[in-house]
Amino acid sequence: MTPTHKLTFSGKKILLGITGSIAAYKAVYLLRRLVENGCDVKVVMTREALNFITPLTFGVLSKHHVYVDMFDPQYAEDIPHLNLGREADAMVIAPATANIIGKMANGVCDDLLSTILIGQVGVRRSGPIIIAPAMDYEMYESPVVQKNIKLLKELMVDFVGPEAGMLASGASGQGRMSEPDDILSFIETRLSKSEDLKGQVVLVTAGPTREAIDPVRYISNSSSGKMGYAIADSAVRRGARVILISGPTFLNPPAGVECINVVTAEEMLNAVMNKLEEATIVVMAAAVSDFRSADIPDKKIKKSESITLNLKKTQDILEAISKKRDKQFIIGFAAETGDLINNATQKLKSKSLDMIVANDVSLPGAGFDVDTNIVTIIDKKGGITEYPKTSKRIIAENIWGHYLGNR
Ligand code: CTP
Repeated sequence: MTPTHKLTFSGKKILLGITGSIAAYKAVYLLRRLVENGCDVKVVMTREALNFITPLTFGVLSKHHVYVDMFDPQYAEDIPHLNLGREADAMVIAPATANIIGKMANGVCDDLLSTILIGQVGVRRSGPIIIAPAMDYEMYESPVVQKNIKLLKELMVDFVGPEAGMLASGASGQGRMSEPDDILSFIETRLSKSEDLKGQVVLVTAGPTREAIDPVRYISNSSSGKMGYAIADSAVRRGARVILISGPTFLNPPAGVECINVVTAEEMLNAVMNKLEEATIVVMAAAVSDFRSADIPDKKIKKSESITLNLKKTQDILEAISKKRDKQFIIGFAAETGDLINNATQKLKSKSLDMIVANDVSLPGAGFDVDTNIVTIIDKKGGITEYPKTSKRIIAENIWGHYLGNR
């Protein structure tokens, strides 16, 4: 595993909670990377986690006692169920089972880790609580688990992953714990006090648009909005004021972001144009529909053997921005299925962009509706940088890193 990101949180105190999942073995690498980067890490394991890995491994790597028992007389004076949470700059539960998530959401504290957490969830003022879930996809999809996750998110608990892919059971689905380097990058973002976008007003578009065919049908695409939301989240954490203009998605807007919801390409165009003057940077991550139906009847079109739709081109929002721009730095995206560099460079030039993020949406793990992407960033000076497959959160960081080097 090659670290993709230089970490900048030396000296931070991290509480690493490990629960009973096969992904516990990945926590060893996570701990090693945290320690290598100068973090002081204390580990709490649940009894269930001991089935997968021993405290000795974490003790050797962290150079601290590994806490398991709630009532260990040897450590009584540390009052670990209170102090371990209080002293940590970040609490990271990786892997987090459906059980610990359920306990956190419902106030159950029947062991040391859950008791530490009950004193922190929803009341913590110093640093994040980060959960990296790991479980089989059926458990993850369970409405009960989803309800617990939703509640914890409302209580400002952060979730990283889980990712989709091959699971320990042999099945495929969403439930894999995120890779340790992605968790590290996430921890870094949450602990980052970087202000490198301070003073900037970032306008980000995200998600698909929907163009009605009749009152019940529409044309759209499978964009999830994850890329644009990750860019907005990263920008706000870097000190920018962020305006997110979003097509229909299932995502919650990141904290601190002003979100304007739109449905059609025309509504997105109007919202962007209304806010353009305020913006210093524009990122068009939305997958805007290129066509809309020319005539939308008031009544549902009745079923027949075939129908012909008369489609009209929607206005290109990026082109409209480029014509009206004043000082804004403009970043576009290119969704391609072949000849990536040539097609994206063509879009960079024809839409007068400063930078374009090109992705081949036909590759596995890239493009729409997945947590990862594979991108190449091209700037107007001709610089071309390829990035390997990684999470959309890390790509968002890379985009800002690239912007800061090119503005
Ligand atoms: N875009 C836009 N307005 C549109 C269509 C696209 O602003 N009506 C923006 C997208 O948000 C993206 C960039 O243009 O930043 C490129 O979009 P893409 O779908 O890759 O290409 P198109 O310009 O639509 O061209 P084509 O579909 O022919 O590849």
